[in-house]
Amino acid sequence: MLCVFSKTIQIFTPAVVRQSRCIASLSSLPETYQMLYKTCRDFAESELKPNAAKYDRDHLFPGDAIKKMGELGLMAIAVPEELGGTGLDYLAYAIALEEISRGCASAGVIMSVNNSLYLGPVTHWGTDKQKQEYVTPFCTGDPIGCFALSEPGNGSDAGAASTTAKDGGDKWIINGTKCWITNGYESKAAVVFATTDKSMKHKGISAFIVPKPIKGLELGKKEDKLGIRASSTCSLMYEDCEIPKENILGEPGAGFKIAMMTLDAGRIGIASQALGIAQASLDVAAEYASKRMAFGKPIMKLQTIQNKLAEMALQLESARLLTWRAAYLKDNKKPYTKEAAMAKLAASEAATFTAHQCIQILGGMGYVSDMPAERHYRDARITEIYEGTSEIQKLVIFGQLVKEYGLN
Ligand code: CAA
Repeated sequence: MLCVFSKTIQIFTPAVVRQSRCIASLSSLPETYQMLYKTCRDFAESELKPNAAKYDRDHLFPGDAIKKMGELGLMAIAVPEELGGTGLDYLAYAIALEEISRGCASAGVIMSVNNSLYLGPVTHWGTDKQKQEYVTPFCTGDPIGCFALSEPGNGSDAGAASTTAKDGGDKWIINGTKCWITNGYESKAAVVFATTDKSMKHKGISAFIVPKPIKGLELGKKEDKLGIRASSTCSLMYEDCEIPKENILGEPGAGFKIAMMTLDAGRIGIASQALGIAQASLDVAAEYASKRMAFGKPIMKLQTIQNKLAEMALQLESARLLTWRAAYLKDNKKPYTKEAAMAKLAASEAATFTAHQCIQILGGMGYVSDMPAERHYRDARITEIYEGTSEIQKLVIFGQLVKEYGLN
């Protein structure tokens, strides 16, 4: 783990910082993480939380906030400093992303996709030239990138890609439709997975860096989503889209492995986003329960409410430990596929549970948009779906158990 706080992170000092709960286990971590936590918390309290309802209601991409997050070093946390990133690790990323998502879950997913799904693979598999062109500028928060794996006919079965990349001599020609692409509207480059040889199934899939806008690319409609409505999601439709030959990322045929390894890291990001939503729900519920009177006393004096708050805290904190463990393993170059899947599964279920219980505690006030509870409930739901559904996480966990036990 890194102990020195990167020079590129600026300490954010808003005029008013609300003092509230702090993650207990943070105090045992090196100062770097505590400072990063405080920076993100202060930023989320002053810049994201007050605006999150408006962003959500009006489907507003929070471009200014994302640029500020770029200035704070949050859009490229694990990218080495020499490439323009912050040079921290995945534990730092998990801590930062939770706090940002606690303020605004949409800002959280925009940050997560840029950090893990776009910059992650380009930094890891890119050539020096690719990194210069497609990493360094994307560390600033403007431009941002996206990740194009899913298709109308392939979601969970990622190996069934039907988008093709044809060898056209000095270029690749891409044809096909990618869907559910987070950051699809605003991004200026995409990591696109396409098959160069269908007969080889997943071994015929390659990864490409495709700039945006580009001739031969049309964007589908912005999806009207249940939650995370300030982030854009749309289809990318490629028709005879030509990109330079050098834009292949990694070896031909390595695309499926690149996608899987990228998603391992991405799942730590989504777990952290889910933790942020869960923490925000617990914060709202605890504050409300301490003020709302019923039967002559604040409702937090009722055992029924105490049980709910205790269960919420238990799920949240268990999931946080799983998430930090997955990040720690990745940072220490140990296998973490199973642990990332467990973290994502537990944290997304904690977010849904906590947001549900939060509404239950608030009653009618939880069901209207005057309070943030209903937004947390809507935002939580996607964390059980994207970057692999909960059912897929169980498949991944079981797949690793099979290996550990030598089963067949
Ligand atoms: N790391 C490295 N290699 C891996 C791997 C991993 N985590 N997982 C699988 N592989 C390798 C295997 O070792 C195997 O290699 P060989 O061919 O050399 O033997 C190969 O990949 C195929 O593995 P499987 O047989 O296990 O693959 P599968 O076809 O059964 O699929 C799956 C496995 C886990 C179900 C996979 O398809 C999957 O993760 N699906 C979910 C996809 C997903 O998460 N989509 C989300 C879209 S992105 C998104 O949501 C973005 C957004 O905008 C927020």
